[in-house]
Amino acid sequence: MKFKGRDIISIKDLAREEIDYILETTRAMEPVAKSGSDILRGKMLATLFFEPSTRTRLSFESAMHKLGGSAIGFAEAEVASVKKGENLADTVRVVEKYADIIALRHPLEGAARLAAEFAEVPIINAGSGAEEHPTQALLDLYTIWNELGKIDGLNIALVGDLRYGRTVHSLAYALSLCDVKLHLVSPESLRMRREVLDTIKDRIKVTEKRTIEEILPRLDVLYITRIQKERFPDAAEYAKVRGSYQVDLNLLEKAKEDMIILHPLPRIDEIAAEVDNTSHARYFQQVWNGIVTRMTLLALILGAIK
Ligand code: NCD
Repeated sequence: MKFKGRDIISIKDLAREEIDYILETTRAMEPVAKSGSDILRGKMLATLFFEPSTRTRLSFESAMHKLGGSAIGFAEAEVASVKKGENLADTVRVVEKYADIIALRHPLEGAARLAAEFAEVPIINAGSGAEEHPTQALLDLYTIWNELGKIDGLNIALVGDLRYGRTVHSLAYALSLCDVKLHLVSPESLRMRREVLDTIKDRIKVTEKRTIEEILPRLDVLYITRIQKERFPDAAEYAKVRGSYQVDLNLLEKAKEDMIILHPLPRIDEIAAEVDNTSHARYFQQVWNGIVTRMTLLALILGAIK
């Protein structure tokens, strides 16, 4: 298995064995994430965030620092006006002179792929429009595997904005490589993107529902997402679906005792605060797992570990 020098653009570029290898390596990285290490000393990560973001960028930077490396970058929304492919290509060709690896977030789909074509250093896609967010999918998988001890055999629901949410696209592709039953819960107008649905339906059992209640008692994992307000072309359309789902203690009465709730964060009103202290909540654990997973990816891609 070779990760050194590789781009991580789409979760679809990874085989099941490679994903499993990343999960196992991430588990071995846990103590290193606590103690710190200097295996990436002298290496530089550039985080180029053309979309407003704090957590994912900080997660990448924290991961780099914990391995003894350094990080530079920007995250101003204004630079999102750099919307032409040519400009992105130039940015990447300049920044790769400063950095050994680039994490890129961009509002346009295909941006990370384009950047990778121009860059000689590896590119990690940290979110490409509504399309994909592969490192989030890897940390989500790690959380499921680490918390429940397996992925195969589980009943998993993806809930909320399945149309504009990039995390659920990457996660659905990855889960379609596993032996899971996938339940897609969304308002009609926010159903899972056609291209994702077509791909995953050939591989695993998929059901589509409108309410969480219909499938809740069977679930091992409830993955709920924010309605992606900023990606709606029309404010009136957003108004129709805002607040569609809310997980609260009342709803959870019908859940299995060991069902876990995941959320990529930030949450708006999808999960009531009262849920945070229940044994179901794992969304803050996901944040920690994100750092450990990104440490693993940086170390593998930069060749510090095999
Ligand atoms: C997600 C994203 O940016 O796509 N957040 C994240 O990476 N932690 C989800 C979201 O913004 O709703």
